[in-house]
Amino acid sequence: MKLCMAANWKMHKTQSQAGETAAELVRILGSNLPQDREVVLIPPFTALHAVSQALTSAPGFVLGAQNFYPADQGAFTGEIGPDMLLDHGCSLALAGHSERRHVLGEDNEFVAQKVRFGLDKGLRMILCIGETLQQRDSGQLETVLHDQLSTALSGLQLSNLESRLLIAYEPVWAIGTGKVAQPEDIAQAHAYVRKELTTLLPQSGQSVPILYGGSVKPDNIAQIIGIDNVNGVLVGGAGLEAESMAQIAMGTAQ
Ligand code: PGA
Repeated sequence: MKLCMAANWKMHKTQSQAGETAAELVRILGSNLPQDREVVLIPPFTALHAVSQALTSAPGFVLGAQNFYPADQGAFTGEIGPDMLLDHGCSLALAGHSERRHVLGEDNEFVAQKVRFGLDKGLRMILCIGETLQQRDSGQLETVLHDQLSTALSGLQLSNLESRLLIAYEPVWAIGTGKVAQPEDIAQAHAYVRKELTTLLPQSGQSVPILYGGSVKPDNIAQIIGIDNVNGVLVGGAGLEAESMAQIAMGTAQ
């Protein structure tokens, strides 16, 4: 299983800024990127074209999208469909990021629709899951993760899901806060996610990559990437600068 080092640029960067950061990252990593990992860049829609150009003939790099609406086309003002993303060179998309769940009000059912529609259209999907601090403190961690995973994945019959689906465990209280979950908390949550995946997806659950997200930085990547069942990271703030994302992308277990 390849390690997946993904940078979600959220609502940051104009197209020229995004293109420059992507080009700089390609320049820094060059041919140094080990074969056992991929780097995913997830810019805003308006910068997809610029980043796609910067990644032309950059082996190991993948272009991703932050969101889409689960329909082929139609009267969905303000939305973007998977075919438009594929047309821009995207091969992957996020669904269920905590900001979409908690700021934009997306529920498990809508996230599930996106995961299934995106996979059907040929996109690789990163399903983001995670608990709020209040849910964790009231002992609901496993219930929340179970509901998020099972709504999106139960009954999925697609083949080769291990190369088409990734899960990102991102405790909501660790996103953009500088608070990193403790290694034992990450290990416990990832072990639970792995157990759920093997039940929900008997053919592929053992090999679906599980990423950790939430205040990942160059100075904690070595510890995080060494934890059992951590198969990559989803980075926000520290992925905005090429130098810092390059250090994360090259991070090895301590
Ligand atoms: P952060 O964001 O690295 O800034 O905490 C992570 C994310 O939103 O995926």
